[in-house]
Amino acid sequence: MTEAPPLKACPAWGKLQAHFVRIGRVHLRELFARDADRGRRLALEAEGLYLDYSKNRVDDEALRLLVELARESRLGERIDAMFAGQPINVTEGRAVLHTALRVPPGRRVPVGGRDVGPEVHAVLERMSAFAERVRCGRHLGYTGRAIRNVVNIGIGGSDLGPVMAYEALRFYSDRELRFAFVSNVDGTDFAEAVGGLAPAETLFIVSSKTFTTVETMTNARTARQWLLAGLGVDAGNQAEARRAVAAHFVAVSTSVEKVTEFGIDPANMFGFWDWVGGRYSMSSAIGLSTMIAIGPAAFREMLAGFHAMDEHFRSAPFERNMPVLMGLLTVWYVNFFGVGAVAVLPYDQYLRRFPAYLQQLTMESNGKSVTLDGRRVDYATGPVYFGEPGTNGQHSFYQLLHQGTALIPCDFIGFRRSLNPLPGHHDLLTANLFAQSAALAFGKTADEARAEGTPPALVEHRVFEGNRPSNTLLADALTPAVLGKLVALYEHNVFTQGAIWRINSFDQYGVELGKVLAGRILPDLDPGRTPDPTHDGSTARLIEIYRSKESS
Ligand code: F6P
Repeated sequence: MTEAPPLKACPAWGKLQAHFVRIGRVHLRELFARDADRGRRLALEAEGLYLDYSKNRVDDEALRLLVELARESRLGERIDAMFAGQPINVTEGRAVLHTALRVPPGRRVPVGGRDVGPEVHAVLERMSAFAERVRCGRHLGYTGRAIRNVVNIGIGGSDLGPVMAYEALRFYSDRELRFAFVSNVDGTDFAEAVGGLAPAETLFIVSSKTFTTVETMTNARTARQWLLAGLGVDAGNQAEARRAVAAHFVAVSTSVEKVTEFGIDPANMFGFWDWVGGRYSMSSAIGLSTMIAIGPAAFREMLAGFHAMDEHFRSAPFERNMPVLMGLLTVWYVNFFGVGAVAVLPYDQYLRRFPAYLQQLTMESNGKSVTLDGRRVDYATGPVYFGEPGTNGQHSFYQLLHQGTALIPCDFIGFRRSLNPLPGHHDLLTANLFAQSAALAFGKTADEARAEGTPPALVEHRVFEGNRPSNTLLADALTPAVLGKLVALYEHNVFTQGAIWRINSFDQYGVELGKVLAGRILPDLDPGRTPDPTHDGSTARLIEIYRSKESS
């Protein structure tokens, strides 16, 4: 892979700067007026997803230059390197191969010269057999009762993917089973998740790539105590405790040693590999809870959806490549318009956790200030991602999207068919979706406000300046395959952004300092100890106040 030149040294960067001066302030009203066909022309269909990107502040030249920037940034070579299993996660010396998790059986997947395809499919087979056993009531707990409750314990990528997918695919899930997700180390999360569950019918999936994450290990230990106490098993009776844990605990991890150390039999472990990043792991064994919920066949449909988008990303020319275009448009706004946030607005209640899922995917990936070769960037990188399902967001933060001072590009996501077609609902929902992107783009002028009879004193308040960009993604219905395509679309969108910014989208050193400091602070929360005198003044005082809770 030849190294890309520094971003600002790319000829296309300078050309984009010059072009921004020409196009940056042109209103979307004018862009649409100039080209009657814009709504059709600036759109793309791929793998059953329809992307309307016509409401972006670009003309053909801007799009051409953005693609030129992608070429000069060697995006194609980076994509090839990722799919070829090269160690593109340079800081950790690892390949980045979540795409290998969804390759159909029989295809070679080389990592460091080894074909990992058979291993991937062997895990999928084991997951399928286990999921079927639970779904059919054949996986029995310690007392011989069938499992009815599945609790995933994990955090970050070991939680957000499973929660999001469970919510997104709930329509397809087995309603006889109850699912809960515990992530926060706050005891409330565990207490509320297991409240009302019968231990004899509860299965815990301890999901952790490393099996060292303190939140997950703390929750897993609490779960073990809760289980043994609930089953009336004496924790000191090691043989019985082991039998109970074996029936009620499975692990998903890359570390057999750590899983064994915790007391879970490796026979009850589903593995994955260090070339799967936590936030890219929902199509690995981390998706076990999803598979139990929707069944192995539907899970494979989801994987096929992921794979279809992977292949599109890998092979479509940049001009017609959905994740590439979305990534480049984000770069355009972040680096030339000074945008700091992107809203993702799914018009489907089942996607209510999709924005939360994307927060980790996007911000843990591209929240970086140092290039691959360790130099501080001299341009902005990853924006904040946030969102809520429509129409709830409309009655909350859309005010700022329409009339605030910040420019926030939006991704609207909608479906032609509802999975719950109650009379009068879906058309109304969809009308709102289309109306919002139109209102953002075209706004309302002072003349239009006056013509509506707005009192003069209110005219300025009623003006919508418009020119606020958005993408609209449409699919037929929210199926497992469509969910896979959507997630892969954002994974590769993030990849594209990271490649342009020359950053490593696959490490997350930024989460470490806080963890280390928490380790130093924890012992000092014990009032019996003399606190470490080297805490900073604010932390020392906060500790003092916390410790005084005993006397208050
Ligand atoms: O927040 C840091 C992080 O490493 C994430 O990248 C990861 O998804 C999460 O912690 C959980 O890690 P693990 O699966 O190893 O418990």
